[in-house]
Order: sequence, then structure tokens, then C-alpha cells
Amino acid sequence: MCRNLSKYALVFLFLALSGLIFLLRNIHTVENWNCHTISALYQIQSRIQSSFIPVGLPTFYNNRTFCAHLGQKPSPEDELEQRYLLDSIAWPGPPPHSAPTALRQTSDPVHSLFAILPTKGGREWHVGDQLEALVQMHDFQGRPKRYGGDFLLARLHSPELGAGVAGKVLDHGNGFYSALFPLLWVGSAQVDITLVHSSEAVAVLRRLREERPDRVFFKSLFRLGFLSETTVCNMCLPPDQQPLCNYTDLYTGEPWYCYKPKMLSCDTRINHAKGGYLKHLITNKEALLFQSGVNIKVHIHASGPDKINVLPPRKDKVEVESSSIKPEPIKLEPSGYYYGDSWRPLGGVTMRQFNESSAITQCLKNKVINMYGDSTVRQWFEYLIAFVPELKEFNLHSPKNVGPFMAVDSIHNILLKYRCHGPPIRFSTVMSSELRYISNELDGLTGGPNTVVVLSIWAHFSTFPVEVYIRRLRHIRRALVRLLDRAPGTLVVIRSANLQALDQEVSLYNSDWYSLQLDKVLRAMFKGMSVLLVDAWQMTSAHHLPHALHPPPTIVKNMIDMLLSYICPGKKKTQQK
Ligand SMILES: *[C@@H]1O[C@H](CO)[C@@H](O)[C@H](O)[C@H]1NC(C)=O
Ligand SMILES: *[C@@H]1O[C@H](CO)[C@@H](O)[C@H](O)[C@H]1NC(C)=O
Ligand SMILES: *[C@@H]1O[C@H](CO)[C@@H](O)[C@H](O)[C@H]1NC(C)=O
Repeated sequence: MCRNLSKYALVFLFLALSGLIFLLRNIHTVENWNCHTISALYQIQSRIQSSFIPVGLPTFYNNRTFCAHLGQKPSPEDELEQRYLLDSIAWPGPPPHSAPTALRQTSDPVHSLFAILPTKGGREWHVGDQLEALVQMHDFQGRPKRYGGDFLLARLHSPELGAGVAGKVLDHGNGFYSALFPLLWVGSAQVDITLVHSSEAVAVLRRLREERPDRVFFKSLFRLGFLSETTVCNMCLPPDQQPLCNYTDLYTGEPWYCYKPKMLSCDTRINHAKGGYLKHLITNKEALLFQSGVNIKVHIHASGPDKINVLPPRKDKVEVESSSIKPEPIKLEPSGYYYGDSWRPLGGVTMRQFNESSAITQCLKNKVINMYGDSTVRQWFEYLIAFVPELKEFNLHSPKNVGPFMAVDSIHNILLKYRCHGPPIRFSTVMSSELRYISNELDGLTGGPNTVVVLSIWAHFSTFPVEVYIRRLRHIRRALVRLLDRAPGTLVVIRSANLQALDQEVSLYNSDWYSLQLDKVLRAMFKGMSVLLVDAWQMTSAHHLPHALHPPPTIVKNMIDMLLSYICPGKKKTQQK
């Protein structure tokens, strides 16, 4: 009896639930429904909806640079610069029509070799000379490669001396590469060559960059009273699938769109967040090109010795001093090197070491430091507030890891601020009211000799065509020119991109190859301006610790020393002015 009753109750409950679900699913088709009566129900429905977001993802036409052509059309001069920049980062690849290639015909680090080339004088090297290592790439069958485009990293280092410098890699386009290193210290020096990606893998990455700007997607929550909806957002969305909300920035023209919520208006957007990463971007065959331990960041062995001993500078070269790094035929431009695990910049800057928090406080006295950008500059903010006890974080009740953040030392009159850059930003949840473009923020600064601006913009742009990054930097550069015009003496420091740990997944969204391309653009676009660079690329490339998106504390310490050396240059060595 009792059992039967509970059975009927279950059936009844099931019917009631089905009715409710039917009602919920059809609510959005009912026009002019009284919002207040259904809002609670609707909230449940949009919760259900938001967990199924990927189902509602837009279909992209997988043809060239869909995103790049959105937004304002660049002026003729801007277009010319863009062409020049894109040409300057052109990357050779497998010959056209050679694809699809079987894995066995692609570059294999295990079958590839390098050799240290002797100098004119035999096997004797002095500080001030250049070391050349010749790399020959082979495929998995051991056959020499006949074309270039492999992404190689080169490093010369000495574990005993805590020394390291990044090498320059030249692609000869025929399967041979030269790695060139300046010799900067006396003693042992060992060559390290790493295949980051085969040229076949780079070709896949390039295709993804042009055709799949949707592979990282974003979302926004819209809310009014009890009603809430979540929709997909991006730099560009196919306009013919659903109505859009247009959040293009009025000052810069930076485009940003979300799908319009069904019931709410576009101005009810509450926040912005990373939506997720699309899967199944590559074929099974292409996936073989991205195997950890096989062809992602694997060392290439030397056919002979991989180590040399560097002698003191030659007698006849003594008078040329530190500018002696002038090898023919290619000019090497390392921005610095490690020695005794400390970064030594080349090119006129004197590195100071800020081992004591009191030295940092002294340096930053009376300064306002504005940091804008991604989490790699937030790391600097975090380093400073952790290391300097007087610098107290002021609680702005911001979400963890997102910011904005602020720290104050009222005794020494120091203000340190951090704010993330505008979309695309893959942070957890940024309130719409806190979504700001760096160029607009810079326009709001008074500036002056007590103001420091620190920028880091790279990691969130790797899934977009390079034109998107060029446009963003162009807006920032214009704002910097305005800032430096109205407030000369404002110190601007830019942190470059850095190397990171890669596996298959990370490669498809964030490969170092994407970062390298953006980093070259960044350097070219700010060249000749009075802005200073902290070369995070070389500082991570030359260091012995494993690559990480957020470099380990010892590298961050060197970066902070570099930043502070720019803010507070040493007194002794500036006499030669
Ligand atoms: C991409 O392809 C679609 C559909 O074939 C076409 O309508 C669109 O114009 C193309 N866009 C570009 C930028 O080539
Ligand atoms: C979005 O707004 C901007 C600025 O008002 C405009 O230039 C652009 O064409 C709009 N985009 C679309 C798809 O309507
Ligand atoms: C800072 O610390 C490093 C490593 O311990 C040391 O070599 C260096 O001399 C120190 N510099 C100063 C200015 O104290």
C-alpha cells in the first residue's frame, strides 16, 4: 500500500517536472510576458543554458583573417606600417602543395644534429668572438630536411658560472640553421639547441591563427533584476547568425561583440570572462606534430663536443671594450646575459641589485607606478608587495587574480597600481565597469617625472591574427606619444613576452611561436620611442630554469632589478655623459 503510493507520487512528480521543463523551454518564445512573474523561472533556465554554452557557439567561415578585417579600417600610413610589420615576421614553411605530410617526413629532433664550427684560428675562442653552431635537421626516417621553417631556440650557458645568453638562429632555408652566440665570459660555455616546433607544426599553428580566432571564446553575464543570461563574446562574431551587441570602444574603435541576450538589452552586461577553449581543432594526423617529448621542445644533440673553453679577450682587441660584439656578417643584439645568476644588460644600462626592501623603498619614494596588462606584469606587482613590507596592499575588494589592485606606502609616498588590459582578456571574471583599454587609461594620466608606466600586453593575443595585435599596440603607442608630449619625464617601461611550458594543448592556443611573432612586432613598433624594454624573452631564454608562463621568482627578481635600475639609475657610471 505504502509502496504503491510512493510509486504514484514519483510518476506524478515526473509529470509535473516535465511540464515545468516544457514551460521553461518555451518561455523565451512568449512575447511580452510579464518579466517579474517569470524572472525566477527564467533565471533557472539561463543557468541551464549557460552550462551548455558551447552548443550555441558561432560557426566561423574558416577562411583568411576574418577578425583582422573587422573594426575601423586603418589609414594608408597605418596600412603601410602593418604591411611592413607583417613582412618582417614572415616565417618560411614547408613548400606549398607539399601538405599533407606524414609524420615520418617531418623534423625529428632525435635524428637532427648540430656541430660547433671552428674559427679561422682553429678551435680557440676569446671573449668578444662569435661562436657559431651549425644545425642540420633530419626527419623521423633520418633523411635530411630540404626546407626551413623549424622553430629552434639556442642558448649558450655555463652552469658552474651561473652564466647564460640567448643565441640568434638563422634559417638557411635548406634544412640547415646557424645558431650564433656572442662570447661574453671567460671559461666554459656549452651550446644548447632546442626544437620548439617542426616547420610542419608551425604551418598548423599559422593556419589556426588565421582561420580559428574563435578557438578561445569569451562570455558575458547580462542581468536585470532577477533576470540573467549568459552569451558568447569575442573580438569578432559572424554577424549573420544571431543579433549582436556591439561594444566597440568609442575612443579607440577597438571592436568587441557579444551575442545579444534573448530577453535583456545590451546595456545590462555585468561582466566579462573567459568562456573556454575549443577542442578538436586539428586532425589526428596533425596531432602527431605536437607530441611532448617527441617534437615539442626537445633538445638536439651535438655530433661532436657541445662545449668550448673561452679565453680572455685577444690583446689586439682590448681597446674596443664592451662594444666589441660586432661579428661579421650578422650583428648580434643580445640585450644582456646572466653571470653569477644575475642579469647583466648590454647597451649602456647599469644593472643595480635591489636585495634589500629598503633599497626598493628608497628608489620608489614619491613615485606613482601604474602597471597595466596581463598576469605577467601582475606578477611584478605581487613580487613588490610581498618583498617590501612597507608597501601595504589596499583592499579594493577586487576579485582574486583579476584586480584592479593597489598598494600604498604612505610614509614614503609610494603608490603602486595594477589593472588588466581590455578584452581580449582570459581572466576569470572582470566586471564590465572595470574593463578598460590601456590607451584610454593612459589618456587619463597626468604623468610627469614621478610617474612610472609599466606595460605588458602579449599573452592574450596569441589566438588572433597579428593585425589585431598591431592595432592594439598602435592605439597604445598613440596614447604614449600624447602622454610623453604633455608630461615629459614620464618613465615608460615595457615588459616583453616570455617563453612558457608547452604541451599539445597549450601549443595550439599559446605557443611560443605565437609569442615570438607578437614580440617582434612589439619591439618594432616601439623602436625609437623613449620607452624602455625589460627583455623577458631573452631573460627566460638565457636562464637554465624551465620555461613557465609565470617565470620563477629568481627570474622575476632580475626583471624587477632591471625595472628599478631604469627608475633609479646608478650614480657612479653615469659620469661619462
Ligand atoms: C569567408 O567565406 C564566407 C563564406 O564562404 C564569405 O561570405 C566571406 O566573404 C569570406 N570572408 C573573407 C574575409 O574572405
Ligand atoms: C559597431 O560599432 C562601431 C562603432 O560605432 C561601428 O563602426 C561598427 O560598424 C559596428 N559593428 C557592426 C557589426 O555593426
Ligand atoms: C645581491 O645579492 C647577490 C646574490 O646573493 C650578490 O651577489 C650581490 O652582491 C648582492 N648585491 C648587493 C648590491 O647587495
